[in-house]
Amino acid sequence: MRKTAVLLCLIFSILFSAAFINRDDQLIPIPACSQRTGNAEKGYEYLTSGDFLKSGVPYGFFIMKNGVAKDNLLGRTGKNANVEEGYNVVHTSDSVDIVIPTCLQCHSQVFEGKLYVGLGNTFKDFSNISNQRVPGAGIKFMQASAPRQYNAFKAFLQSYNTVNPEIETEIRGVNPADRLAAVLVAHRDPKTLMWTDTPILNVPASVVVTDVPAWWLLKKKNAMFYTAFGRGDFSKFLMMSNLLTVSDSSEASEVDSHFGDVLAYINSLEPPKYPCPIDKKLAAEGKLIFGDNCQDCHGTYGANSTYPNLLIPGNVIQTDSLLFTANQQNNKFLDWFNNSWFAQGPNPAKPVPILSTQVAINIFLALS
Ligand code: HEC
Ligand code: HEC
Repeated sequence: MRKTAVLLCLIFSILFSAAFINRDDQLIPIPACSQRTGNAEKGYEYLTSGDFLKSGVPYGFFIMKNGVAKDNLLGRTGKNANVEEGYNVVHTSDSVDIVIPTCLQCHSQVFEGKLYVGLGNTFKDFSNISNQRVPGAGIKFMQASAPRQYNAFKAFLQSYNTVNPEIETEIRGVNPADRLAAVLVAHRDPKTLMWTDTPILNVPASVVVTDVPAWWLLKKKNAMFYTAFGRGDFSKFLMMSNLLTVSDSSEASEVDSHFGDVLAYINSLEPPKYPCPIDKKLAAEGKLIFGDNCQDCHGTYGANSTYPNLLIPGNVIQTDSLLFTANQQNNKFLDWFNNSWFAQGPNPAKPVPILSTQVAINIFLALS
């Protein structure tokens, strides 16, 4: 009996170690998905002046609180010239000018005095936001004196006050967008996308943060996000910010109709040239090291660049597992997504979870 057990153990350990001998066997290729086409110029226009949120802070109120922006880094005209690059001034169907936060809050950064659209913003500070609430007295005053303005503000206010305490980070420079999406999803009906005050999903307590990937990398990728969760139609994932204030799925469909153009714009971006001096000798040495040790996973650069599009098992990469065991791996979140408006219609999003609870070696990380 004992002999059989020992023998079985031996066979198992041999089988298991065999599975680890060739690391390359475990690198899983990510298949490509077809994407919408669009007009890059229109996409840029929409990103920097479009109304992908239909509710926001009334313009007068915003300027009273923040003043007029010092710089007009996007070179915009009209009222957009008076707000920073991370905001758009848009006109509601009720003829109110509102200020909405945009993708560029997280996806643009000034470096060496120049604004780079598409560079992840490492200065954005989410570490002290839980106390940022609009004072009740100010809201009451607006309700009484400017009902149309209040109406245009209402959905934004509700979402802002609900979400802010949930996405505070421990330090600055990291980004809680994954959690923001999870919290918003918890307050929305999957089919109609309408708001519910009581969350319909339990969102795990921890705020698991990530970096913000550069937009010019997206065109190389067969899946979006660090965990490669974003499969199917990319534009559907790109428009998820609309969940902040969306009134219903017909509004989402209107916003969605612009996101083929937004994807075309993102795909038109090229990595900017590093503006500071580079030590050519060291760079040449680094290139060799990169070729020998890194490019099988991270790809090659230059004229004939390649990008492997691989999922790397957790036991191979051995980085902190928190990200790939959290966020989008929550089954309730996936069920919501797969039953939602986002997964329907002619261009469905098809999220793919990476965690299998049965076998630990099925935990993968996508390569960004
Ligand atoms: C609150 C900050 C924030 C806002 C606002 C935001 N994003 Fe992101 N975005 C992120 C973070 C963080 C990630 C990475 C998440 C991950 O991989 O887990 C991301 C990922 C992406 C990616 C995926 C890139 C890749 O290579 O996988 C694209 C493209 C993108 N966002 C576009 C947009 C667009 C378009 C908007 C506006 C409609 C937007 N984002 C709004 C923070 C933000
Ligand atoms: C076996 C595949 C593999 C090899 C080989 C590899 N990496 Fe990575 N690398 C990854 C994965 C997977 C991640 C994401 C890990 C995570 O987020 O926990 C990563 C992350 C990174 C990051 C952080 C990227 C970001 O967006 O935050 C850098 C920088 C990096 N690797 C550089 C290198 C360098 C330099 C080498 C060679 C010396 C190398 N890697 C070799 C798989 C690999």
